[in-house]
Amino acid sequence: MGQVHSEILPGRVQNANMTDYTRAVSEFRWEDVEKEFSWFHTGKVNMAHEAIDRHVAEGRGAATALIYSDSAREERYTFADLQERSNRFGNVLRKYGIGKGDRVFIFMPRSPELYFSLLGVLKVGAVVGPLFEAFMETAVKDRLEDSGAVALVTTPELLKRVRHEELPELQHIIVVGAQADPEHGILSYEEETATAAAELEPEWLTLEDGLIMHYTSGSTGKPKGVYHVQRAMIQHYYTGKIVLDLRPDDVYWCTADPGWVTGTSYGIFAPWLNGVANVVRGGRFSPQDWYKTIERFAVTVWYSAPTAFRMLMGAGLSSLQGIDLSSLRHVLSVGEPLNPEVVRWGDKIYNQRIHDTWWMTETGAQLICNYPGMDIKPGSMGRPLPGIEAAILDDRGNVLPPYSMGNLAIRTPWPSMMGTIWNNKAKYDEYFRIPGWYISGDSAYMDDEGYFWFQGRIDDVINSSGERIGPFEVESKLIEHPAVAEAGVIGKPDVLRGEIIKAFISLREGYLPSIELKDEIAAFVKAGLSAHAAPREIEFKDKLPKTRSGKIMRRVLKAWELHLPAGDLSTIED
Ligand code: WTA
Repeated sequence: MGQVHSEILPGRVQNANMTDYTRAVSEFRWEDVEKEFSWFHTGKVNMAHEAIDRHVAEGRGAATALIYSDSAREERYTFADLQERSNRFGNVLRKYGIGKGDRVFIFMPRSPELYFSLLGVLKVGAVVGPLFEAFMETAVKDRLEDSGAVALVTTPELLKRVRHEELPELQHIIVVGAQADPEHGILSYEEETATAAAELEPEWLTLEDGLIMHYTSGSTGKPKGVYHVQRAMIQHYYTGKIVLDLRPDDVYWCTADPGWVTGTSYGIFAPWLNGVANVVRGGRFSPQDWYKTIERFAVTVWYSAPTAFRMLMGAGLSSLQGIDLSSLRHVLSVGEPLNPEVVRWGDKIYNQRIHDTWWMTETGAQLICNYPGMDIKPGSMGRPLPGIEAAILDDRGNVLPPYSMGNLAIRTPWPSMMGTIWNNKAKYDEYFRIPGWYISGDSAYMDDEGYFWFQGRIDDVINSSGERIGPFEVESKLIEHPAVAEAGVIGKPDVLRGEIIKAFISLREGYLPSIELKDEIAAFVKAGLSAHAAPREIEFKDKLPKTRSGKIMRRVLKAWELHLPAGDLSTIED
């Protein structure tokens, strides 16, 4: 079994000037990373084993793995603790016949139990689906239905949003902090785990077996289930080492919730595969609270998002009063473009260069990054990691020269590339329509030193505070409201959030525009989908621009909003 903290990992670029970078890229072999895993030697694959059990087996069981805190709790768990808790939960699942390939979803706020159960699901070879706690009824039902989840872990509060009578495949509901209610198929997490055995032999899998599902938005249709497989761990581990720069004594904090891919790939897998202490802070964002979290636990490596940095910047110096952030050694960002202004502010206020990283739910892990040692150009997403080849392609698949804008594409395959889109092979294939490449849906250009610069989305997907929102899903919810005849949704540029959701609405006969109606419609989306999907702005229109086939032309709505020429209108209705 390999050493977890090997001194020299291929691709580790200490001083990434052009020559070193070129050498790192040419010498890089994924196989050298694979050798670090126990399955490379035993053939027995299981993410939870690599992330937790092997540390215990190799004598690091007493090291801190999880530092959890919120306004009510502060708890620490070692790798040995996590092994025991996840084993118990795995045994509960086995008792009910749940195992390899089954989908088990987790719908709860951040808490230690979320992490125990997620690892327990993985131990028995089931595929885990974490859902963001802000999801409301429709969003929860769509995901449980599409995935065919057989079990759900939740809390009494969130259980109210689960329409389990309408989900015949959902056989088991395990509630944290409640008593069993056998008549309604409700099991108690506490009762079940208390009597379950603390030992468990993990389900041994192959690298192509399932790991995790994250639902994410596209421009058309409902959110799609991005299905990742076990081999993703190769890249979680590798990027944890060379991009997050994790070292044995680090205290690492990723601010993302496990309902988003960043909160699992980098809030669970990367830190624990690398054996470091992982901070989880429950509750909502507040500048004071976040700074105190860094200070209290002496966080050394911090991974967050542009919106959060912009909010911290907006909170001003007073929020830093009396706070010591000197423990910080490395700061990173993901999710949306990181403004150069924010990078410069980070230099000044944190004495840290904020390192931007680019990747997507579908890519499973970081691909284009600014990593330690490399010259950072504020505003650039960085360079492809050793092992990753990126290019800008035109729509026919020709590679474009530097400074041309086009489709940001990645050479296939790479270890954490999604396994499929659940129930939707056609959607999956769309990403790979140009042979040999994954088409990201982002537009970008590359400069003559191989740095990539993000330009925007090619489709209509909205990125608000780093969260991907499909306009179609919001429009579908809007037209369920009795007053709404038609709805078109766009992303409107916003200083703090990157974009906000703006809805153009035409009303049904008998309804008159009013501020109260706007509020009511926004609240309706919030209650049906989630707060982040609700439009922050609504504009009523007599008629919306449509194609002759009846499709609402979001491109025209966007042009209206930005006071730009509307472009080719030859397909418009009238
Ligand atoms: C955007 C989050 C600019 C991009 C891990 C991408 C970014 C989408 C960056 C994926 C970045 C992510 N600079 N844009 N550094 N990182 N994006 O699936 O449009 O929630 O396609 O994954 O966010 O969002 P997702």
